[in-house]
Amino acid sequence: MKIKTICCIGAGYVGGPTMAVIAQKCPHIKVTVVDVNTVRIAAWNSPDLNKLPVFEPGLDEVVAQARGRNLFFSTDIDQAIVDADMIFISVNTPTKTYGKGKGMAADLKYIELCARQIAKVTKTDKIIVEKSTLPVRTAEAIKHILDNSGNGVQFQILSNPEFLAEGTAVEDLLHPDRVLIGGEPNAEGEKAIQALVDIYAHWVPEERIITTNVWSSELSKLTANAFLAQRVSSINAMSEICEQTGADINEVAKAIGMDSRIGPKFLKASVGFGGSCFQKDILNLVYIAKSYGLNEVADYWEQVILMNDHQKQRFSDHIINTLYNTVSGKKIAFLGWAFKKDTNDTRESPAIRIADNLLSEKARIWAYDPKVIPERMYADLDYLNTRSEQENRNLLTVSGNPYEACKDAHAIAVLTEWDEFKSYDWQRIYDDMQKPAFIFDGRGILDTVSLKEIGFTCYTIGKGS
Ligand code: UDX
Ligand code: UDX
Repeated sequence: MKIKTICCIGAGYVGGPTMAVIAQKCPHIKVTVVDVNTVRIAAWNSPDLNKLPVFEPGLDEVVAQARGRNLFFSTDIDQAIVDADMIFISVNTPTKTYGKGKGMAADLKYIELCARQIAKVTKTDKIIVEKSTLPVRTAEAIKHILDNSGNGVQFQILSNPEFLAEGTAVEDLLHPDRVLIGGEPNAEGEKAIQALVDIYAHWVPEERIITTNVWSSELSKLTANAFLAQRVSSINAMSEICEQTGADINEVAKAIGMDSRIGPKFLKASVGFGGSCFQKDILNLVYIAKSYGLNEVADYWEQVILMNDHQKQRFSDHIINTLYNTVSGKKIAFLGWAFKKDTNDTRESPAIRIADNLLSEKARIWAYDPKVIPERMYADLDYLNTRSEQENRNLLTVSGNPYEACKDAHAIAVLTEWDEFKSYDWQRIYDDMQKPAFIFDGRGILDTVSLKEIGFTCYTIGKGS
């Protein structure tokens, strides 16, 4: 089957960039990305490419090439579904905030809504592709809803998890380590798999496209994220030992990373991992394990999250302890709010929890991030419900200028590893600060030797004194 028209439901961090790259690489396929959020769709259609709703290096060029040619962003979901040969579901699957599985299970209500909407309007056979990260066996539920829609239409469900990381999405999409496609092991399933393989084969070498059954594919995504997050929690656990013993976590990471069995990636100690996937997917995995009565498995993976919570907590505790056990009324500058560099995404960013802890101790925070807008930071704090929206606005000031954010501050906390932080005029920042001037580098990116020469008192995650 040759695919001529694609629809993607969900124009978020995954759907937007993924479809932009498919459209760029397959000019003969018409790709329409739809979303219920009209503001988001308007932003994707903005003539000013700086206003795209997702910031990703290189994405503006890809969108500029394909948009209006064979890439379209629309709110007419029904029409796009009707027209498509293949439909990607790329809506969010947040952790449930209510009922059974609250705080752990993935909330599949948007996925189900999509399936019902597809069932309602479809008149011709379709291939449905799960892009959203889902609990194992979700495809089965989608298929059940679709097959009982009564239109007599044939559906094939594929699982095609996305492994792109934010900040490098375009690069990851253009040169993926692998593309994973899960489908049903029968003739119809294999045809559907081949149709999707043919799309990726326009730019991905065939040996990097692997096919499995649906459940292996769904579970592989959760497993990949669990393993990656586990490495970060493992190195962060060692960072605390380093601080106590006088070892240096970067030296330890280098030494173990040169072991080819371990490898050098994902060994950077930090103030904790964030992002929309790691925590959600591990909680999901824990929930699945518990639901099968696999309590030891559940406890094992849950510890990765507990370690991450601890890392954030001990960072803010350390700031308070160092500032003579009180931050009340003190100005603390935050450099960075995004969960990692090169993205405007703040979901589960460690900065949020650390800000909340310090605000509860009545600190005044001035935050600067090169890409995160003020409304996002306030919304992140309001979402925690720790204090009133007004109090959050009184206590947190968002600055568009790092020098202003740091002026008269008692301390600076580096919470995202943005490259520009390394090249600031640190002498100027020091001169303008309260003394003693403290820096807490939660990402281990600053040159502490020269900062100490200037006069700063420095703490770096994972560096013992
Ligand atoms: C999401 C999930 O978080 C991730 O697990 C999955 O792998 C891919 O989808 P992301 O793209 O980062 O990732 O989410 P988000 O930026 O929130 O985008 C989802 C979009 O779907 C939103 O724009 C939302 O408006 C839209 N949506 C949601 C619909 O169009 N219809 C719905 O019914 C629900
Ligand atoms: C992750 C997966 O990498 C990706 O394959 C999947 O599709 C979605 O989830 P993402 O969350 O976008 O991607 O970014 P990632 O680079 O994995 O970073 C996640 C968090 O871990 C960030 O907060 C990052 O700062 C932190 N991290 C990462 C570390 O603290 N140390 C490291 O060595 C690596």
